[in-house]
Amino acid sequence: MSQAASSNHLASGIAVRPLTDCVGAEITGVDLAAVTDAEFTVITEAFDRHAGLLFHDQHLEPEALVAFSRRFGDLDHAPVMENGQTAVPGLPEVYLVSNIEGADGKPIGSLGAGEAVWHTDMSYLDMPPDISMLNAVEVPPSGGDTWLCGMHAAYEALPEALKRQVAGLRIKHDGTYNSGGYVRRGAKVTDDPRESPGTFHPILCAHPRTGAPLLYLGRRRMAYVEGLPLAESEALLDDLWAYATREENAYRHSWRVGDLLVWDNRATMHRRDPFDASARRLMRRTQVRGKTKPVALAG
Ligand code: SIN
Repeated sequence: MSQAASSNHLASGIAVRPLTDCVGAEITGVDLAAVTDAEFTVITEAFDRHAGLLFHDQHLEPEALVAFSRRFGDLDHAPVMENGQTAVPGLPEVYLVSNIEGADGKPIGSLGAGEAVWHTDMSYLDMPPDISMLNAVEVPPSGGDTWLCGMHAAYEALPEALKRQVAGLRIKHDGTYNSGGYVRRGAKVTDDPRESPGTFHPILCAHPRTGAPLLYLGRRRMAYVEGLPLAESEALLDDLWAYATREENAYRHSWRVGDLLVWDNRATMHRRDPFDASARRLMRRTQVRGKTKPVALAG
């Protein structure tokens, strides 16, 4: 699909422009605080096609972010943050990703200012969240870019022999660490991926809405391919990850205040660049509850 060919300008003013050939599209001409049903139809069609959507100039109050997020489905309550809080007071669905310190000297949100490695959200759960979104409230002058990679394109890039090798295999998605390298609350740390807490999911999946084939990897640290000797599992995972995280399979987003990025956790992975810890970065984040377990690709 060429980017120009699929650029879609609609009578209502909403327009869809692909950001790359493999993942992401920018949508303009819509106010996410007051989306009409017709506009939301355009948004969901674009989302099914591009797996990640970018909107500019969406300065949403947390309540409006929650209301827009709910158009996609029921929301998860925010996980416990590293500061021990569970949520923004009064809004249990909103999670803060931030390095900013509160009056008590503790960060008001999660993930600090370091790199967040490639991952898809909370895939250590039996039924991982379908969708996540971030709305930028404060951004640093440089750094802190968020990357998306397309897992449909990653599947297509796999050599046929590798597809055959991994057909029917499952990966254990580790639940010990979050993407910033912090140990999740209550997790027992071990160095052996075979022993760590987590959930097995098929490596080759079909998207539950579109049926499109995709590679489902979760995160690399402490992953384990079921039934293989550890060294073989490590080698196979390294091979698969090399296809998924190729630069040509990714969109890199440099944030402006008011940007909103929404991604499909089944069809993308994401990562974040580090930034200067003395700069301020604040993102409000919501998460749409998973409706199905990852579905194995038939055949
Ligand atoms: C995340 O991994 O969910 C956060 C990404 C970001 O801070 O840009």
